[in-house]
Amino acid sequence: MRVLGIETSCDDTGVAVYDGEAGLLAHRLASQVAVHAPYGGVVPELAARDHIRSLLPLIDSTLELSTSSASEIGGIAYTAGPGLSGALLVGAAVGRSLAWAWGVPALGVHHMEAHVLAPMLEPEPPEFPFLALLVSGGHTLLVDAAGVGSYRVLGATVDDAVGEAFDKTAKLLGLGYPGGPALARAAELGDPKRFRFPRPMTDRPGLEFSFSGLKTFARQTSVAHRLDSATVNDIAYAFQDAAVDTLVIKCGRAVQQTGCDRLVVAGGVGANRYLRERLAELASERGVALYFPRAEFCTDNGAMVAYAGWSRLRQGATDPLGFDVRPRWSLTELTPP
Ligand code: KG4
Ligand code: ZN
Repeated sequence: MRVLGIETSCDDTGVAVYDGEAGLLAHRLASQVAVHAPYGGVVPELAARDHIRSLLPLIDSTLELSTSSASEIGGIAYTAGPGLSGALLVGAAVGRSLAWAWGVPALGVHHMEAHVLAPMLEPEPPEFPFLALLVSGGHTLLVDAAGVGSYRVLGATVDDAVGEAFDKTAKLLGLGYPGGPALARAAELGDPKRFRFPRPMTDRPGLEFSFSGLKTFARQTSVAHRLDSATVNDIAYAFQDAAVDTLVIKCGRAVQQTGCDRLVVAGGVGANRYLRERLAELASERGVALYFPRAEFCTDNGAMVAYAGWSRLRQGATDPLGFDVRPRWSLTELTPP
């Protein structure tokens, strides 16, 4: 089965074609960075309008790149949530309408399930069961994944998602938008010894996270010092070090608690090089096999949606005519196909 995947949950328009036998045939992304940069963050209404402008041309060009004609597409998957409702509605409306016109099934996909399954697009995919650390702009979750649709949340953030904390800290340091990658670049130039931030919630048992305190710590440090470029880099280092250390400590705990020896890392912050290095160290110390999607499939993309949709559509899953989006949607509400 060949599936067209559509991602429009936030500020990236992603389209891909995945084929059950041949694998990923094509994927394309239209970034909205230029649209939102003047505002220093994602403006939901502008995101929805830009998806409207970009989506159909992107579907055309991705189909062409995959050398697929519409008649070869056996199903369409679109992100149905969680995400920005206006943005989700664009992908859902277009995906559902095309499926109706082409006479194929359509399926609304859970964005975080798509992130969890993104490593399946790599040459050496993980087998179930595995632990998944999901780190994005909207979520920070440690998940026990027994199979497609069988997820148990072991821990989540009690306040900001880690990507959100990266973005907000970058903004207060004047590093602009998108903040996460800019903060990571600044951190590489920082002095590791100048500041040390706490590791939130690591002094008590459990797998819960908290990141809003780190952002406050960064603000207080920035107010207490002259914010020259060296100080910005040093604060960026201290923030990234504390955030990553916290994630690594909790992953170590989750491995110990579950006895699981496979760890998947996915979501936008999974593209962070320092996090990848530190988790690789943890994995080798603990004898755990570590799986990452390539960096471009950590951040939002159409390929993961096409794959997640394919894994359900091929088992006969389909949505009725009409469509619904779920701006809030827990991973634990999913069931196996
Ligand atoms: O998964 P994603 O593309 O979108 C959501 O589903 O939220 O994740 C976006 C988040 C943003 O907060 C962004 O700043 C962060 O991932 N991010 C990074 C890096 N690349 C993206 N954070 C830290 N280091 C990076 N290299
Ligand atoms: Zn995402």
